[in-house]
Amino acid sequence: MSSSPVIVALDFPSADEALRLVDQLDPTRCRLKVGKELFTRSGPEFVKSLVKRNFDVFLDLKFHDIPNTVARACQAGADLGIWMLNVHALGGRKMLEAARAALPEDAAAPKLIAVTVLTSMGEEDLQEIGLPHSPADEVKRLATLSYESGLDGVVCSPREIELLRQDLPSEFELVTPGIRPQWSVTGDQKRIMTPAQAMTAGGNYLVIGRPITQAEEPMQALKKIEQELGL
Ligand code: C5P
Repeated sequence: MSSSPVIVALDFPSADEALRLVDQLDPTRCRLKVGKELFTRSGPEFVKSLVKRNFDVFLDLKFHDIPNTVARACQAGADLGIWMLNVHALGGRKMLEAARAALPEDAAAPKLIAVTVLTSMGEEDLQEIGLPHSPADEVKRLATLSYESGLDGVVCSPREIELLRQDLPSEFELVTPGIRPQWSVTGDQKRIMTPAQAMTAGGNYLVIGRPITQAEEPMQALKKIEQELGL
């Protein structure tokens, strides 16, 4: 268990490679995100092994299906002992409500958050699939729908934090990738913020991959981020 806002993205092609990093991390000082590649290769047993090591795990599988199927997938996630999981808000209100209803209400239940508009999609991509509004408007609409459906928060880019904080209450949690400390390489991320900027703007959790996973000394990188955040 951790009280850290930092979620380290385990973007590795195999459990062995992921564990080489995990072995260097302290579960009281960060949480871990397992996405589609690692989960598809290494599966639930790997996730359980992280939970057994006392890490809070965010299972980033972005469920999007009929309500009954998503509800059951969320239950299966909760059974793994994970801390957070996510669904696609584009699955609609009934799907979001079914996901919410499928999870227990106790404190040990995973947080349920939604993905709104993928940041890979621009205005033209949205129009092509019949979504006429600007990405910012769609993000706002889907985040509001997620809130109304009882979800705990959304994943959003750091540039969307301010927009979402205008309308949504402070207990609705914002989880943001696209984070780059000043000392790190930007890589392929474009609309980035530093950890401190994202937290000051109103973010609750920071998903950070390469600045930590590719660092020669990952715990040192984490320490620098903690210092920047005043932790
Ligand atoms: O290495 P980096 O810090 O860029 O990793 C960010 C993580 O957040 C990756 O797992 C990436 O897939 C994820 N992500 C993102 N942008 C989004 C949604 C998720 O970078 N809009």
